[in-house]
Amino acid sequence: AQTVYHEMYRPQVHFSPREKWTNDPNGMVYYNGVYHLFFQYYPDSTVWGPMHWGHATSKDLVHWQQQPVALFPDSLGYIFSGSAVVDKNNTSGFGKNGQPPLVAIFTHHDPNGEKAGRNNFQNQSLAYSVDNGKTWTKYAGNPVLKNPGITDFRDPKVSWYEPEKKWIMTLATKDRITFYSSPDLKGWTKESEFGKELGAHGGVWECPDLFTLEDNGKKVWVLIVNLNPGGPNGGSATQYFMGDFNGNKFTPADSATRWLDYGPDEYAGITWSNTGNRKLFLGWMSNWQYANVVPTTTWRNAMTVPRELTIKQAGTSRYIASTPVAELNAIRLNPVAWQNIRVQNTFEVGTKASKIVLPGRLDLNLEKPNDFAVILANDAGEELEIGYDSKQQQYYIDRSRSGKVDFQKDFAGRAVAPRLRKTGSMDLKLVIDVSSVELFADDGITVMTSIFFPSKPFDHIRLRSPGGTTFKKILYTDYMGIW
Ligand code: FRU
Repeated sequence: AQTVYHEMYRPQVHFSPREKWTNDPNGMVYYNGVYHLFFQYYPDSTVWGPMHWGHATSKDLVHWQQQPVALFPDSLGYIFSGSAVVDKNNTSGFGKNGQPPLVAIFTHHDPNGEKAGRNNFQNQSLAYSVDNGKTWTKYAGNPVLKNPGITDFRDPKVSWYEPEKKWIMTLATKDRITFYSSPDLKGWTKESEFGKELGAHGGVWECPDLFTLEDNGKKVWVLIVNLNPGGPNGGSATQYFMGDFNGNKFTPADSATRWLDYGPDEYAGITWSNTGNRKLFLGWMSNWQYANVVPTTTWRNAMTVPRELTIKQAGTSRYIASTPVAELNAIRLNPVAWQNIRVQNTFEVGTKASKIVLPGRLDLNLEKPNDFAVILANDAGEELEIGYDSKQQQYYIDRSRSGKVDFQKDFAGRAVAPRLRKTGSMDLKLVIDVSSVELFADDGITVMTSIFFPSKPFDHIRLRSPGGTTFKKILYTDYMGIW
């Protein structure tokens, strides 16, 4: 069952730690029927500090159980972001009794080295588990990849490259990605660099990922590169490239900068390893601009819902599309639905006295989008507006009147995202929790995530369209099945 939390703003269908600070998801791996989610964690405070790997597990990607801290800081430094793999062939030799080990590959960040002004304070290290991820042992030979003198040298994402039977490490190295390879996870050889002249560079490259997706029977290689700052709506965000990887080098199919999520509040997103043909993505649901000062109490920050990634067409280009994982459908209850509704001015989505209960999911389908907005509202007059601007062909989320916004200057305002699939009917899926919304538009080709902090919970959803818009379908289901 889901842990029951009662604090104001506490997400209900999104993972957040029982208490204290979290940022990036780490080491996501599926093993023996369990999804592991580790996370950057500071168990002593609600602001960022000496990083640990917290740990949570789930059998269905919906209900999460927090586990004891997996990795604590040590003499080599804080435990920064990284990945985890199932070492099926026991290449590392960490396995026991014929059981393959789980191996975590992470960055050791040495705060003393940083303070002393050295440039090699981030190095890559290993830890392994031979009890299904319950307990972790750090490798005695750490670090396994030493820093050649690059101040930002972190967030290793490791995957198995079957054609050459070797591990590939995709590492964020300041303004580019550096690929390394290894036969055993312990010794690493530099293969190539990518991206100094491509993509967005308004900040430091962090938390990369490299994987394949099927596209009409063809394999496409995807390289995710998180960036902070320099996102499309300011601060931190997730960009990606599509192309080919040959075991040595990544070659992009074009020079476009693509964003996996345009909203202000998805960051450090990467995918689970060992999930077969499914690619499951999850990000941190905040932004470095204000993550340390959002007005929560006993805990700070949460993750997005897990999303399934596929490749889809929009215009003349291919994009990654995201959908909330189908597992979330199992907890949808109490549907209220309408068909062929012409919304002129305001339309209330709701049941008793027009109130709705959150968390929930809103689906909208329409043939000809005029300007319209979905408004989350309360009786304190606060509103969070998620809309479509037909002239600009843009989606937007405006949280300037959404309640508490003045804890940081960049928080209030309006985030925009292009409608990439500009023709045909429009469909929107909104996953709405008590302090967040995730918009999946046009089959998930345009995605926006935004958090908000109303002074009283939002309990109305209204559709608004001054010029009039006809909705083919309006469907709201709450997520009360979570309990
Ligand atoms: C991204 C990041 C990573 C780093 C971690 C530290 O949000 O800055 O690059 O490993 O957070 O907590």
